[in-house]
This record gives sequence, structure tokens and C-alpha cells, in this order.
Amino acid sequence: MVRRRGRELELLPRAIQALVQRHADSPAALWGWIERLQDARELQGTVAVPRQGVVATPARVARLMAERLLRGPHGNRPLRLLDAGCGSGRLLTAALREASRRRLRLGCEGVETDVAAARWAQALEEVHRAAGAALVGWKILHADFLLDYAPPSHFDLCIANPPWVAARALSAGYRRKLHSHLRGMGRADLSALFVQRLLEVLRPGGRLCVIVPNKLLASDYATALRHRLLQDFRLEEVWDLAGDGVFSAHAAYPVILVVAHRRPAAGDTVAVHHSGGAVRTRWPQEALLALPRHVVPLDLPADSWPLLRRLLAGPRLGDAVPVGCGLAVPGFQRAMDRGRDRIICSGDIRPFRVRGRRRFAPQQLDLGRRTLARQKVPKVVIPGMFRRLHAAFDARGDLLGRVYFVPVSGRADSRRALLLALLNSRLYAVLYRGLFGGVAQSGGYLRLNAPYLRRLPWPQRAPSAALLRLVQEIERSGAPESGRARLDRGVEDLFGLAAPERRLVARLERRLHPGPSGSPRTARRLSRLSGSAPEVAPS
Ligand SMILES: C[S@@+](CC[C@H](N)C(=O)[O-])C[C@H]1O[C@@H](n2cnc3c(N)ncnc32)[C@H](O)[C@@H]1O
Repeated sequence: MVRRRGRELELLPRAIQALVQRHADSPAALWGWIERLQDARELQGTVAVPRQGVVATPARVARLMAERLLRGPHGNRPLRLLDAGCGSGRLLTAALREASRRRLRLGCEGVETDVAAARWAQALEEVHRAAGAALVGWKILHADFLLDYAPPSHFDLCIANPPWVAARALSAGYRRKLHSHLRGMGRADLSALFVQRLLEVLRPGGRLCVIVPNKLLASDYATALRHRLLQDFRLEEVWDLAGDGVFSAHAAYPVILVVAHRRPAAGDTVAVHHSGGAVRTRWPQEALLALPRHVVPLDLPADSWPLLRRLLAGPRLGDAVPVGCGLAVPGFQRAMDRGRDRIICSGDIRPFRVRGRRRFAPQQLDLGRRTLARQKVPKVVIPGMFRRLHAAFDARGDLLGRVYFVPVSGRADSRRALLLALLNSRLYAVLYRGLFGGVAQSGGYLRLNAPYLRRLPWPQRAPSAALLRLVQEIERSGAPESGRARLDRGVEDLFGLAAPERRLVARLERRLHPGPSGSPRTARRLSRLSGSAPEVAPS
């Protein structure tokens, strides 16, 4: 690999010279060649044996990002642009091309840890100079953007497709260095740390455009980052590319964020775009700041805000009941289908009933007695992975796989029936997917995350006797659909929903959890209403 990279870097300047001589009069041809060179480099795998976090931005996405970054007036002076983790310079190239089109001038700087990629990007300077008048400077640094990079002044513009690497996938040594360097790193992944650092090097009035995993819009580890983005910056646009297969060989769910370095003003909105460009909705930025953990809900329209605000101002599920998690331990499979205990897995849970249980031998695993005892009680069980939130009652007190639970004292417990009503209702299904759908996995599966569940609203009214009886009736009949309309109505009464609010929830249900006649976009992602879920999301 090293020899091949060396050879590639030896040949590159000659290839570039030949190109420049041949197409000196045709910038359009040169731009085309630069993109082709970059494609060839990336496709041939010369960007190392794909290391983690090294996935080049497809040319069409790079062009979109460049266009969103540079739109609007910029005055006459040259602008300083930074690409953090520039790889072979794909985003810088796209920005330069867009700048030429807009008659802007750019001083480009790239930072890259991969020495071969950095040298490759540097070698492109000549062809960029030949391709247009936009270039006023080109500097590629071989450095670690998070640890070693301290630019002398701030940038007018920043662009990046940062590495999408989870903290747990980093070496212990690198994690330690990051910890000592960056405050509050917590469990953040590298993309969140890049965005945080990019905000620091962007000058007031400047603009940033990044492509990041959509988890950044809902995950706990990025809460502080979202707070900062919404409180101190202008989140101008979010582009939802998750359903687009942008990084086709990877199970990736990207969003593009466009951020201006200026304080938000009252009335500023965040435009959420479909990948095709249409605006899906415009959220008031201050409303996003007020959502739980400042999540950015990609699938909820902004007209749901008054209802959300009211529901989220009251008590939350986490205030009323404890939520526990089943056995999500390494080597879990070793203990399956043997032993005398029984275990409930995500796929065994249907709305209002547990459909099957497998044998399990906990002694194969290193599990404490207290861990097991906590689960061997009657409880409401909620799958750890689902398309639509649902729950059932486990009266036998079996063990649990990646399943969440709320202990309840028995069949007659009214809390048990209330939990089943809430967790199987359309209101909860809509709220969970609407608020936390940003972390959807392939096939439209959502992970249950206990902190998310704890944030759902808890009713201040006591459930009516009729609602509690209805839950028992549905459990006995095993046919949840027969009582669904009455159940939804009963739950919505608990929260005092008015008729227009009910209509809104029904509309959101059709949009987020469509049946066979639902909207095509979401229907493709969510082919079934509910039902069995794998223990882990298919990738
Ligand atoms: C997802 S790739 C994007 C490459 C290129 N910007 C593009 O859009 O095609 C991320 C790049 O960041 C680089 N990188 C990873 N960690 C880095 C760090 N700490 N500092 C600078 N570059 C880094 C990787 O080597 C890789 O080239």
C-alpha cells in the first residue's frame, strides 16, 4: 500500500502538468478532470484501506454543500475558507468551483491527518490555479484538527465532512489525548467534536456547512452542542439526506447543517429541507431550543409546536415510573436456547402481548444475582428496537434481552394498565418518532433509548375506569386493533387534547406511521405499522 501510494504521489504532478497544458484554455474541462482524478483516487482505494471515518463526499453532495455555503452576498474581499479533514480536497474543489461561478475569491486551507491525502490535495494547487480566478491561496496542512491546529485568525467560511467515528471506536491513547485537550468530550463522536471546534474557528458573521450523522440532532452526547448551536448561532438550514443512500456502501444517515455565526433573533426559523431541495418545514429556532434536550425533529412540522410545548411543560414519564434495561451484555448469544430460564427478546413483544419466549442459561454469563432478580418480576416490557412504539405485560417475570421494562405489582395494578395504554397509543408513537426519529436506523427501525422514553409526557389526570377496563379487554381478546380508536381517544383525553389537536395527531400518525395507503416517502421507510423487531437493527 505504501509503495502504491508513493508511486501515485510521484505520478500526480506529471499528470497535473499534462492536464494543465492540454486544457489551459478550458476551465470547465479542468474542473471535470479534477473531479475525475478525485473519484479515481477514492474508487481505487488509494485513500488507504478504508480506515474508519474516511469516506469521501460524493461529488453531487459536495456541490450542494458548496452552493449552500456560498449563497448570498459576500462583498468583494477574498474570503478565507477552511476544510477540516479535507482528504483529497473534494469539498475545497467544490467550493472553488462555486466561487468561480459567483465571482468570489477564496483563500483555501485544508487540514488532514493522512499524510498521503494531504500531499495529494496540496498537489492540486496547480490545476486549481489554472482552472479559474477564484483561487487566491491554497494551503494544506498535515495536522490533527482537534489536537494540533491553532489558526492565527478566524475563517469566513468553514466546510467539512468530518470523520464519523464513535468515541468507543477510538484507541484509548487517542481518547485520553482528546479528553485532556477538549473540555466535556463525554461520549461524543469525532463529528460532534469537529463541529464544536469549527464553531470556534469561524469568525462572527461567517458561515459553516457540514455533513454529519443525523444522530447529532437527537443523541444525548450532542446535547451541549445543539444547545450552543441554537442559543449562540443561527441554524439556517438542515438538509435531510438520510433516505437518499448518499454513502451507498455504508449504513449512514447524513444531514447537512448550515450555520451562521450570529446570534439568533426572535422569529428566526430553521428550514428543514428534503434532499431534493423542497422545504419540509420551518421551525422557529427558539422553539427547538425549548424541546427536550434541544432535539431537532426532522419529521415533525412546526405547527405541532403549540401542542408539544403544552405537553412537555407538564410531568414526564421518568418522573412517574422507573425504567430499567434488560440484559445487553457481550456474549449474550452464548446463553440462548439452553438452560431453564426463559427470556423475552425485542421481536417477541407485540402490542399488548408477549408472543414467545426462548430458553436462556444466565449462568453462561457473568451476571450478578441482583441484576437477574430485578427482572424476575411482573413488568411492562418495551422492545429495544421497533418501527412503532408498543408494549406488553409480562406477568411471569421472565428475563429480558435488549428490552426495557417498568416493574409493576400485578395484573390489577392500574399503573400497569395506564402504562400499556400510553405506550401503545398513537400519541406516544407520534411523539417518540417525531421527536427522536433523527436516530432512525435502516428499515425505519428506532432504538428505544431510556432517556428518550423518560422524556415523554405523563398525564396529570387519573385514567378513567373505562380506559383501564378497555386495556384489560384488549389484552384478553388479543386483538389490539379492535379497541385502538377508543384507546387513542382515552389517552388523548388524559392529556386534555382539543379536537384540532386530535386532528393534528391523526395527521402526524398518517405521516410518521402510515398504513398501506400512507405517504410514499415514509411508507417506503416504514413498511409495517408495528410488530417484530430484530435485537439489533439490520444494517
Ligand atoms: C469523511 S472523510 C472526508 C474527506 C473529504 N473532506 C471529503 O469530503 O471527501 C474525513 C477525513 O478526515 C480526516 N481526519 C480524521 N481525523 C482527523 C483529524 N483529527 N484531523 C484532521 N483530519 C482528520 C480523515 O483522514 C479523512 O480524510
